[in-house]
Amino acid sequence: MSAAANVLVNASAPSNETGYRTFTLGSFKISRDEYFVHVTWPAKGQQMKHIMSADAFLRAMMRDVAWGFFYGWVNFDGMVGTRNKYGQVEFYAGRYAPAYHDRGLDLVETFDTPLIMATFKAILEDFTNKGFDPFAAPDETGSSWVGKKNGSNTEAIDRQRQACKRMPGLPGDAELRTDSNGYPVNRAFADVVQDAPEVHAEAGFENDVHAMNLFAYLSRSDVTWNPSVTSVCGRSLCCPTTEEYILPIKHGNDRVEWFVQLSDEIEWEVEDKLTGLPRAKAIMKAGDVAAMPANIRHQGFSKKRSMLLVWENATPELPEMYESGKLQPYPVNF
Ligand code: PHB
Ligand code: FE
Repeated sequence: MSAAANVLVNASAPSNETGYRTFTLGSFKISRDEYFVHVTWPAKGQQMKHIMSADAFLRAMMRDVAWGFFYGWVNFDGMVGTRNKYGQVEFYAGRYAPAYHDRGLDLVETFDTPLIMATFKAILEDFTNKGFDPFAAPDETGSSWVGKKNGSNTEAIDRQRQACKRMPGLPGDAELRTDSNGYPVNRAFADVVQDAPEVHAEAGFENDVHAMNLFAYLSRSDVTWNPSVTSVCGRSLCCPTTEEYILPIKHGNDRVEWFVQLSDEIEWEVEDKLTGLPRAKAIMKAGDVAAMPANIRHQGFSKKRSMLLVWENATPELPEMYESGKLQPYPVNF
């Protein structure tokens, strides 16, 4: 046992063989070896086992931790994941894999958010080796995730989301990613023009009126598949992000969300939220706009680092309104 944020995390001593600990969360056990993470749970008198690449597992768990379990379902793959009940979180195995669920071989357990958060953080810290950054593209972080326990990378996994206090570029903003003192332009965006719009404010409004080059701002993003909230207007959140390789989770929406493809191309696989059956494939090119319905799970594939605007509606009543049928799961009836 170790204490994190006054919550007891249930962990074994490091294994003599691999150096990694085994973690217990309710009836689930989570362990890793040189290549794989293993999740086990009891069902119908037997011990069920699921295996997935440690690389994919760590990338998914990193998002779950960084996003505070996000909206709805965070499927690490087709078998295991979390569902945010806003105050509590479900961890499940097989619940949304009909071959398991229909035979009673799945398990869902509910945890208070601080316990599952502390456990996930401890797992991330233990399973992440030196040099591996779960937010980086594979080309940037390499195969350092492979092998026996070898150091850690707390700097990468504790990275604090940089929240703007005001629009980037206005006096008093929290960061200066748009200027040359900030983050370097990513190798994939070397051609993005770095100029800034000219602003001619009415006298007396110089401190209130502003414009920025969002493309220049995003070209300096040092993370992938990690939307940052850059503007808030009531419940409307504009969350642009840069995407390379695979969205590490199959997100099950609990509300409609909009995508605006700002550059390059992302291929989306859209599946039924409950069964995982294929529903659609969307190839989004620069300028394309799509609404992702509230009853699907989706995963994106981006061959070249691209820019995506995710537009979220943070209204707290939405999950209940969709679940009860008060709202249809898509925004338009054609
Ligand atoms: C989503 O699930 O809608 C999502 C999450 C992270 C991203 C992009 C989209 O980077
Ligand atoms: Fe989503």
